[in-house]
Order: sequence, then structure tokens, then C-alpha cells
Amino acid sequence: MNIPTKLAFAVLILAAASAAVMAVPAEPKTLVNKVNYVFTPHAKAVAGICRFVQDKRLCCKTLKHVPTDDPVQLIRSLASAAETAVKNGLKFLDGIKPKYQSKEFAIKGCEKNLNYALEDFAEFWKLAGKDLTSMAGNYFTCKQKITSIFGYHSTCLDDINGIDKNLRKEVEGGVGLGKNLTGEALDVYADLKDILNGFGIKAKLNEKETDPLQPPPISEYYY
Ligand SMILES: *[C@@H]1O[C@H](CO)[C@@H](O)[C@H](O)[C@H]1NC(C)=O
Repeated sequence: MNIPTKLAFAVLILAAASAAVMAVPAEPKTLVNKVNYVFTPHAKAVAGICRFVQDKRLCCKTLKHVPTDDPVQLIRSLASAAETAVKNGLKFLDGIKPKYQSKEFAIKGCEKNLNYALEDFAEFWKLAGKDLTSMAGNYFTCKQKITSIFGYHSTCLDDINGIDKNLRKEVEGGVGLGKNLTGEALDVYADLKDILNGFGIKAKLNEKETDPLQPPPISEYYY
């Protein structure tokens, strides 16, 4: 490249960088240097998690504003975002009932499934706890819970599919985010060992079923 071309190129890159920065209004306060966000521990932590999920864009969007660099807390936030989305999905279903009065039973069936999903979330949180110790010690059962939460979304949509295709489309739009975020949490749990390794975090993930009421002793699963 000749000099003027190089210069134009540099200006272009700068413009693109500042446009990207302006498109992102509310950064956590600690991330002062926005231009260098991609080089921050936060961005590296988010990337180290999101590279394992199918929809990387949604994952990054979800975690970008969570004010922690701790991979374990970021992973918890992903599950938490999924739970919030499921709750919003239930509100959505309630809101479309007047429009589909004759099909209310179908909407109620879906609500029932999403309520089961919320029950599983409650158990998930008991197991996942607040730190790596509980997360690793209850790994198997946590993964199972997320798998069933994802399954409840599929059941909801499959059931409606046999009743009314338009209603299914509408419901899919309303509960889709919960389903997709749950899918990402599932991806993260499926690859949790590799994700933690990527951060140099050593933890032995317990592959046996555990009881939500009785977390396993710390010493057994941690080294
Ligand atoms: C969920 O993911 C599917 C497949 O990637 C996509 O088509 C859909 O728009 C997503 N839904 C939402 C609400 O994000």
C-alpha cells in the first residue's frame, strides 16, 4: 500500500472503532477505556465463555454489561438471564390470551411447561450456589436441570404446533429468547471443563447426581 492509502485505511479503522464504541452506550464504570475494551480482562472473560456457545452474538450481548471479570460469575449471569427471559415468556403468554381465546388451553399448556422450567431453575440455583465449589460439586445435576429446562421449551412449542401454526409462531417469538439463552447456558455447561481450563481454573467436575438439598462436601470435589 502507498502512504495515502495506508492513511485512508487507518482513518477508516479509527472511524469504525469509534462508531463501534458509540453504539455501546452503557458500559460498566470500570471499563473506562472503551476503545481498548477488547483487550480488557472483561472482554477476554466474556470471549472465553461465549466461544463455546452456538449464538456467540447473543452470549456476548448478554454478558457484556455484567460488571465482573470472574468467569464463574459470568456463567451464573448467563443462567440468570435465561431465567429472567423465561419469566418474561410467561408474561408474554398471559398477554396473548385475549387474542387466542378459543386456544387458551394451548397457551395454558405452554405456561405449565414454563412453570416447570422455573421450578427447575429454583433447584438449579440451590445446586449451582454462588461459587465454583458448588458449581463443580453439583455439576452433573446442574447440567441435568438446564437440559430439562430447555426440554420444557421444546415441549411447549411442539404441543402448540399440533394445534395452531400461527399461534406457534407467535409463542415462539415470545418464549424464544428464554429458549435460546437456556440453550447457551446448556452449551456452557456441556463444555464447562474446557471453559474453566481456558481460564487456568482447576476444578474437578462431579459427574454424579447430587441432591439439591444436600450439597456435596467441599473436600471431595476440589483440588
Ligand atoms: C432464537 O434462535 C433462533 C435460531 O438461531 C433464531 O431464529 C431466533 O430468532 C432466536 N429467537 C430469539 C427471540 O432470539
